[in-house]
Amino acid sequence: MAQSICIDFGSTYTKVALRNDWNSPGTLATFSQFGRTPEAQICVPSIVCESRRGKMSKWYYFNEAADLRPGEGIIVYRNWKSHFSTPQPEPDPDLLTAAGKFFPELRKLCSMHPVLKEFIDAPTRLCVPDFGRLGVWKTWLQTILCSAGWNCKGQFLLTEPEANLIGALTCGRNSVWTPPKTNSTSLQIRMMRMFDGDSGLLGKARDAMLFHRDDKRYSALIIDVGAYTTDCGLISWEDVSSGEFNSQNIQTKSDEIGVRDLDNDLLGALGQDCKNLRDEMSFSEFERMKMALLLGKEYSVVMNGKPRVIGGAEEKDRIGSVVMNFGARIVAVVDAFLKHKAHGRVDTVVLTGGGTLIPGVNEVLKNRFSGAGSHVVELGGQMFLNSKLDQDLSRDDRLARNQLLVRGASAVGGASVYFDTKGGTLEIDQ
Ligand SMILES: Nc1ncnc2c1ncn2[C@@H]1O[C@H](COP(=O)(O)OP(=O)(O)OP(=O)(O)O)[C@@H](O)[C@H]1O
Ligand SMILES: [Mg+2]
Repeated sequence: MAQSICIDFGSTYTKVALRNDWNSPGTLATFSQFGRTPEAQICVPSIVCESRRGKMSKWYYFNEAADLRPGEGIIVYRNWKSHFSTPQPEPDPDLLTAAGKFFPELRKLCSMHPVLKEFIDAPTRLCVPDFGRLGVWKTWLQTILCSAGWNCKGQFLLTEPEANLIGALTCGRNSVWTPPKTNSTSLQIRMMRMFDGDSGLLGKARDAMLFHRDDKRYSALIIDVGAYTTDCGLISWEDVSSGEFNSQNIQTKSDEIGVRDLDNDLLGALGQDCKNLRDEMSFSEFERMKMALLLGKEYSVVMNGKPRVIGGAEEKDRIGSVVMNFGARIVAVVDAFLKHKAHGRVDTVVLTGGGTLIPGVNEVLKNRFSGAGSHVVELGGQMFLNSKLDQDLSRDDRLARNQLLVRGASAVGGASVYFDTKGGTLEIDQ
């Protein structure tokens, strides 16, 4: 099929992307109801709430659910993705309830989207972490997604780090061609064009080679610090001097550490009176408080009827150390990945995921990976704007697209033609 939808099932935010033809770029679905910024509009809170009043029950989803406080008849289902990662013959009924409510509602939401609604029955893929046992995720999710109406047949699962690598390094470009003298039902993926080997990031591979004339190898590492996992993806080519990018080697891994762990440490760094804050606040309020604290600001709340300023001088120092410590743990995870999977130098490091937007974490990662032959690329920065292939987009539009890729690269990559055959010949479904 020429079309494809990808759902990047995030522990806190789910992102959806669409490719509507072989050569069309992958684009993120935006939903204005989720916030004012373009970034907020691609992030669908993975949250479901049930409000029970006597025998009556009412369900809330996404941003509405994110605004509700747990307690007094309100049951909030959040952070439920991780439960799918272990084999469970009898999964937690709450988990099935949450997922069984979330995915049909997500489909309803997408069916109302002005563009997605036309393609809602397209083959749909789902990104999940790479813990080395993809099959476990399939156990319940395929049934749930199919019952919700999504077209998830066959190999619908992708690993987040691989999808993320493809999405970020291609910037969502898709390109196929019909090789001469082959029968007309076959298509070939044009990796060189998708990776923009002339002027984009991989064009820079040649620049990198100028510094390492004896070595024609090039490799790029992508780090995604999410809420539940940190995903590493490494792509390398043995020889990029020819400009051919069809023989890439990809290594991936997900580790169970993410901003959720930082949230716990953050609460631990505050006074005893704050330890249950996450369970007492709505998801949205907790996010607002967290953002303020991580930026070194104070946040005012009312606790037990009294005003309380969180993040004053002493707490601020403790928060600073907690963030640095979390950054160091992420670096250790990435270093362990590189030790096992990388052979030689890493030329380019790309940072993605909400966690890399946290200033202290961003700084620790940049300090570790800048220099010594590597450079760190901010997807949302200027470095990614050199492509000659995206001439139909203005510079501002390219910048805006790339900024969204920081959060949405896995969804965009998951919708790529790359996954229709993993680099080989495509069969056109007539
Ligand atoms: N600008 C920011 N500053 C601080 N934290 C941020 C920022 N943007 C996002 N986050 C945090 O990053 C986390 C979400 O990141 P992301 O959307 O990458 O995770 P996810 O995809 O839901 O998780 P996972 O992929 O691990 O399941 C949230 O905990 C959010 O609070
Ligand atoms: Mg994610």
